[in-house]
Amino acid sequence: MSSDGTLSWRELLSEATQRLQSAGNESAESDARRIVETAAGVEPVELFLTLDELVTERGVAHFDSMMARRIEGEPLQYVLGSWAFRTLDLMVDSRVLIPRPETEFVVEVALGELDRIGGTERETTVVDLGTGSGAIGLSIAVERVRTRVLLTDESQDALDVARANIAGIGRSGARVSAAVGNWFDALPVDLRGSVDMVVTNPPYVAESVVLPEEVHRWEPAGALWSGLDGLDDVRHILGAAGEWLAPTGVVVCEISPEQSGVVRTLALEAFSEAEVLADLTGRDRALVARRPLRAAV
Ligand SMILES: C[S@@+](CC[C@H](N)C(=O)[O-])C[C@H]1O[C@@H](n2cnc3c(N)ncnc32)[C@H](O)[C@@H]1O
Repeated sequence: MSSDGTLSWRELLSEATQRLQSAGNESAESDARRIVETAAGVEPVELFLTLDELVTERGVAHFDSMMARRIEGEPLQYVLGSWAFRTLDLMVDSRVLIPRPETEFVVEVALGELDRIGGTERETTVVDLGTGSGAIGLSIAVERVRTRVLLTDESQDALDVARANIAGIGRSGARVSAAVGNWFDALPVDLRGSVDMVVTNPPYVAESVVLPEEVHRWEPAGALWSGLDGLDDVRHILGAAGEWLAPTGVVVCEISPEQSGVVRTLALEAFSEAEVLADLTGRDRALVARRPLRAAV
């Protein structure tokens, strides 16, 4: 669409809703609203104060590009370029998994565990393995001010996004660092035996699962799949964590609900205690494994 200087944001909003509906988008109204807010550069609460203002050439160009991408099927989060996660507004694009509400619950569990092991009274070291956008580790850094947080990922592209998000959290970012590498290989050796918490949302989709088109077409494959039963990475992390954790250390790991029984059994091979907690929808979502049986050598 081109602007001759007489087009209002209200007209663009109506146009966007119709075009998205015609393209078969099931959330056309809310997607259109988010796209117009972003093109206008306003917060959601400000949109209705802006609707009768005339759009700028730049605003229309941004609007057109976002609309074309959304109609092509790209997820709204990537199209907008940022997404809310707990208290954060994270930069996201197709280099990283879109942060999910289920993972907000996993952070809740991790914060509870940190408090239980004294994280409000002393400094603790937290490692977010497979950090993607940095959603988990950065939330912990912001919500618990006595943590030192290390973000890792095997994808350099993902870590570039996480680094941009470290810069976006202000002073809390000074307590966060990032390193590339295969799971624990990314950690400096002097952390061996001293990590208070490993928190992770590893790939956990089994080979046989058919994912929605929007997920498998756009989100990074390396963030999704993990072997025949989806547990290759969980198995590796639980098996290797003992060498890195302090004696009171804990692993908090996001899982798929149907994996609950198997992951608890796996965890009990390497930890004194393991439980799986259900999220707000009642589905098993977070494994907590406490006190490793095999400490650092
Ligand atoms: C399910 S995504 C989670 C991203 C982010 N933590 C979140 O919750 O939104 C899994 C992440 O693990 C990373 N990953 C996959 N295999 C890995 C490996 N062998 N070592 C380190 N990171 C890995 C992927 O690149 C991806 O960023």
